[in-house]
Amino acid sequence: MTGGLGAWARAALALTGALALAIAPAAAASSLPAGADVRAAHHGLGAEASAPLPAIERRTPQIGGKLEVGSPLVVWVGATSPSAVDVRYQWYVGGDRVPGATGKYLTPTAEHAGHRVSVRVQLAADGHETSVRWANGESVITLPSFTRKAPSIGGTLIAGTELRAWVGAVSPSGARVSYQWYVGGSKVSGATSKYYTYTADDAGQRVSLRVQLSKAGYATSVAWDTAWPCSIDDASSCCVVVNKRRPLDPTRYAPADLVHPAGVAGTATMRREAADAMSRMHAAAKAAGADFWLSSGYRSYATQSSLYAGYVSRSGRATADTFSARPGYSEHQTGWAADVTDGSGCTLKGCFGDRAAGRWVAAHGADYGFIVRYPEGEQSVTGYIYEPWHLRYVGVDIAVAMRSRGVTTLEDFFGLAPAPTY
Ligand code: DAL
Ligand code: ZN
Repeated sequence: MTGGLGAWARAALALTGALALAIAPAAAASSLPAGADVRAAHHGLGAEASAPLPAIERRTPQIGGKLEVGSPLVVWVGATSPSAVDVRYQWYVGGDRVPGATGKYLTPTAEHAGHRVSVRVQLAADGHETSVRWANGESVITLPSFTRKAPSIGGTLIAGTELRAWVGAVSPSGARVSYQWYVGGSKVSGATSKYYTYTADDAGQRVSLRVQLSKAGYATSVAWDTAWPCSIDDASSCCVVVNKRRPLDPTRYAPADLVHPAGVAGTATMRREAADAMSRMHAAAKAAGADFWLSSGYRSYATQSSLYAGYVSRSGRATADTFSARPGYSEHQTGWAADVTDGSGCTLKGCFGDRAAGRWVAAHGADYGFIVRYPEGEQSVTGYIYEPWHLRYVGVDIAVAMRSRGVTTLEDFFGLAPAPTY
């Protein structure tokens, strides 16, 4: 912004001048007796009375700059008529005169925070009436703010997992950081460190984290994050538990973000998160001499229907039910599961568990978020025979927790009823 008069203001001044010229003689004429010499009367009036001095034409002064401690403010007077004027400033904060603040600029200090700023601007010019107008700040002066990212909660909400607070970069540095954890919306007393261990009592409840930053001379900053437990019911959740007692909801659910895991042979697709993890796992397995590819990934309700029907006609329904899920009951329909093979004669057979690839995925899959979903000897819980090739993505936290606790089925991990039959 400059001190120049805008086009609108110039037009207004021109109009005011024109009106003055147009109205003055008429007004004078109307107050005079008919036939009087208007010109003589007009001049005579000006000479005899002490007429007020003309006003200085000016705009309302404006305060420019950020209304923040440490940031200079400036007051703009704008163009005046006449242009040669003597300008006097006096700054006020919270209604009090700021001693010595009589220039065009003021840099608010910490004690000005929370108050409004204004400036008295007095203009004087020879032959004109002295003019006083005020410039008013639009809001109160604030302390400078931190530049920060939203905090986030790291970790999965499963009992026994240590969650941690991520604060992210904060500017300026040197802020005091305080944490407060909440479970189910209630403050957990004493839970004020960067870490919080989600307990069995917390199960099913959301966790919130309040992160406060403070530093002298800066506005205290509070920000939150909330994490929800992974849902075992939501078909789109990587924690969804699907078995003979827990069909997908809706039965014809189909995920939206299916992609082929990059670098892995085959045409199978998986949900993007699982596919990314699969690509990483495959690269590590291959490097360890345990290469594999996917013989199957996502399967639609329709695909599962024809697959299951084929097994039923070949082996009978009872046998088919021990290794093939009915449509609407298959993990493959979630996009989180895949069947891996090394191309050997052990494809889709129990002996795959003794192959290099089978051993490798059983031992290291958890590091990438995968579990062998139908372990040996758990048919009474899972409803299926040993399927060392069927890998299910559940995320690293859950997979690692299962491995370290020696829990092999999702039913046991989530405390669900066994599902041996429909
Ligand atoms: N083979 C597994 C159980 C399925 O069909 O989903
Ligand atoms: Zn499978």
